[in-house]
Amino acid sequence: MYGNVIVGQSGGPTAVINSSLAGVFRTAIDRGAKKVYGMRFGIQGLLDEMYVDLSDYIKNELDVEILKRTPSAFLGTCRYKLPAIHENQDIYVKIFEILNKLDIECFIYIGGNDSMDTIKKLSDYAILTGQTQKFVGVPKTIDNDLALTDHTPGYGSAAKYIATSTKEIIRDGNGFSYKKPLVTIIEIMGRNAGWLTGAAALAKGEDCEGVDLIYLPEVPFDTEAFIEEINKLLKVKNTVFVAISEGIRLQDGTYVSEAGGGSDYVDAFGHKQLTGSATYLANLVNHKVGCKTRAVEFSSLQRSASHLASRVDINEAFMVGGAAVKAADEGDSGKMVVIDRVSDDPYQSATGVYDVHKIANGEKLVPRNWINENGTYVTEDFIDYVRPLIQGDYPCVMVNGLPRHLYLKADEV
Ligand code: F6P
Repeated sequence: MYGNVIVGQSGGPTAVINSSLAGVFRTAIDRGAKKVYGMRFGIQGLLDEMYVDLSDYIKNELDVEILKRTPSAFLGTCRYKLPAIHENQDIYVKIFEILNKLDIECFIYIGGNDSMDTIKKLSDYAILTGQTQKFVGVPKTIDNDLALTDHTPGYGSAAKYIATSTKEIIRDGNGFSYKKPLVTIIEIMGRNAGWLTGAAALAKGEDCEGVDLIYLPEVPFDTEAFIEEINKLLKVKNTVFVAISEGIRLQDGTYVSEAGGGSDYVDAFGHKQLTGSATYLANLVNHKVGCKTRAVEFSSLQRSASHLASRVDINEAFMVGGAAVKAADEGDSGKMVVIDRVSDDPYQSATGVYDVHKIANGEKLVPRNWINENGTYVTEDFIDYVRPLIQGDYPCVMVNGLPRHLYLKADEV
């Protein structure tokens, strides 16, 4: 490698996003990068010339190991949409001035479908203006909704947290089951894709009955049918557990979270903040069925629980970070690294690279035939797909009884 590497993190964080950062750093150093810069707060921070030299923070092997176990974006993240090239060339001129000043050869961006839009636009601009930098994306999102990759780093760990916490919630509720009906609604992230919510099915096993109903955004939500299902279940059992996606929508497209008041906040990519569906439905059951209810929103816990990260996920996150640097160093640009599943048992995966134009801004949904006919549970195929991804653990480095994290202060540049 003749020049330097710059890496950024973008979009919603995950428990393993920093494992990818560690993979980028390690491979860049191994391949002879003189400097590995980290953008503070993604491309938005870079535009304000906010970056750090990662060698100032990752000084030895222990730091690499701690970084792999540190949840949420070490460098800071953003939800920032670059304008179309023809709309505002000045922004591109500014970014490339900074990249040239720092002698950047490889630009690596760790993110989801919206973040891949940044890789797409920057690589297009580089070609258009004859610049030599290479731009490669590293997949990341708990939502698991990126096209052309078997799955995304971050999904396995969030799925493991969801399945584990769901088991614990079921234990908690069942402890009160004697003559006391209780309906618990668990709200899970994932926006318009039900991959994460479906992972609640993993709670079921020889020591747990599992959740009774699972509602994904891929199937329109019917409120009356839902109340009917609850009534039916309460005739045969006292505790009912329901997993719902934050993004479930009524037949007319309205988010259930909006019916409950929700939030008016919309991000740069036009995504509404989805919150409050569980509370809305719990109140509805309370009112229509007349029993005790509880609403649980996993919210940011499900994407930051590094104490429960999956070993498969941490290792793959590290692997895709390294693969992106290798690809860029070997001349790829406008590409994203993908994970190919080689085998299920034993589980094995490998990396490849794909044209980012086919990935950016898209959404991979759960196939309809992986959801049961009436849209209230996932099928065995779904469960077989996700189970390998939650395997193994990656114990935290504990100091004074708590996990140790690698830490960068908010204003450090
Ligand atoms: O993009 C991943 C994600 O975690 C989604 O599942 C969720 O809808 C969204 O981020 C929440 O974003 P924010 O933290 O910006 O509100």
